Amino acid sequence: MEAAINYPIDWLEERSGLIGGLRYFLFRKVPADTNWFHTLGSATLTAFLVQAITGVILAMYYKPDPATAYSSIQHITNDLTLGWLVRGMHKWGASVFIILLFFHMARVFLFGAYKYPRELNWIIGVTLLVTGMLEGFTGYLLPWDQTAYWATVVGINLNGTAPILGPFLADFLRGGAEIGGDTLSRFYSLHMLIIPGLIFALIGLHLYLVVRLGVTSPPWSKEAAGEDWADRGEPSMDGRPRQGLTQPRPRGNG
Ligand code: HEM
Repeated sequence: MEAAINYPIDWLEERSGLIGGLRYFLFRKVPADTNWFHTLGSATLTAFLVQAITGVILAMYYKPDPATAYSSIQHITNDLTLGWLVRGMHKWGASVFIILLFFHMARVFLFGAYKYPRELNWIIGVTLLVTGMLEGFTGYLLPWDQTAYWATVVGINLNGTAPILGPFLADFLRGGAEIGGDTLSRFYSLHMLIIPGLIFALIGLHLYLVVRLGVTSPPWSKEAAGEDWADRGEPSMDGRPRQGLTQPRPRGNG
C-alpha cells in the first residue's frame, strides 16, 4: 500500500522537484510570534479563489450581449439549481475580497512589514490592490441593469477627466463613442480573462517573495528586537538563535 502511494510521488519528484518544493513551502520556518493577523493574506487569497471558482461557473451561463445579459443573469438567479447561491457568493464575495485586501494591507502597514527588504512585495501588493479594484469596476457593468449602466457612465467619465491621458482612457474603456455592446464585451474580457490572469501572476510573485523573505514579526516582538531564544531559555532547533532569511536584519546592522 505504502509503495503504491510513494511510487507516483517519487516519480513526480524525480522528474520535477515539485514535491521537494511543496515540502519547503509547507515546512519553512516562520517567526515564533506570528499571530492571527498574519492569516489575513491567506484569507484574501481564499476570497480570491472563491471569486475565481464562482466566476467560472457564472461564465458558463452568462451572455455578454446587451440583448441577453440581463435575462441571462435572471436565468442564473431564478432557474438554475443553486444559481442564486453561486451568483450571491460572487456578488458579496467581491466585497469580502476587497475588505480583506484592505485589512491585510493595514496589517502589513501597521507591522512595518513594507520596509526593507520587502519594499518590492509592497509594490506588488499595490498593483494587486489596483487590479482588484478594476475587477470590481469591470464586473459591476455585467448585469446590464440601470445601476450597472449609470455607475459605469460615472466611472468612465471620472477617468475621462484625468489630465492628458483621460480622454484616451475613456475611449479605450468605452470601446467607441457610446457605452454599448462593445463596452460590455470589452469589460467582460477584462473582467474574466485579462485582469484575473494578471492577478494570478501577481499573487504567484507575491507568494514567492513571502516565502523567500519570510514573514515579519509583530512590532512588539522581543525576538525581532534581538532577544535570543537562548536568552529566554528556549533554544531553537539547532541551538542557535534564529537568523537569516526567516528574519532578515536591516542594512548596515552587521
Ligand atoms: C490579492 C491580494 C493579496 C493576496 C492574496 C496576498 C497574500 C499574502 C499572503 C498569503 C502573505 C503572507 C501572510 C501574511 O502576511 O498575511 C502576504 C504578505 C505580504 N503582503 Fe500580501 N496579499 C495581497 C495583497 C497585498 C497588498 C494590497 C499589499 C500592500 C499594498 C500586500 C503586501 C504584502 C507584504 C509587504 C507582505 C509581507 C508581509 C510580511 O513579511 O510580514 N499584499 N500577502
